[in-house]
Amino acid sequence: MNAEPGFVRVARLSDIAEGKSARVRLGDDEVALWRVRGEMYAIGNVCSHQHFSELHHGILSGLTVACPMHGWTYSLETGIALSGNGRVRKYNVKVEGDDVYIERPVPGE
Ligand code: FES
Repeated sequence: MNAEPGFVRVARLSDIAEGKSARVRLGDDEVALWRVRGEMYAIGNVCSHQHFSELHHGILSGLTVACPMHGWTYSLETGIALSGNGRVRKYNVKVEGDDVYIERPVPGE
């Protein structure tokens, strides 16, 4: 059962260790789901530089993740590129027990 309307269960919390990530799908979107300092963060997995689907394999530093391809760095809190000039979508995340949910984006956003 979903946490709230609009939220979709995408993973089990116990499958993602601290400081690790998973690639999950939300409809047509590919999402990088990171567990950092006990919190869950979800950003688009496709780098805005050359569109590689690799941010789930990025290099974590604090609350940023660097794309493994050429190093553009994104905030896990906002999805904004801190190096480079792009951004990826930021998703709202909820955790209930062992279930991790991501909110479906509003169409057109
Ligand atoms: S594809 Fe991510 S930095 Fe180039």
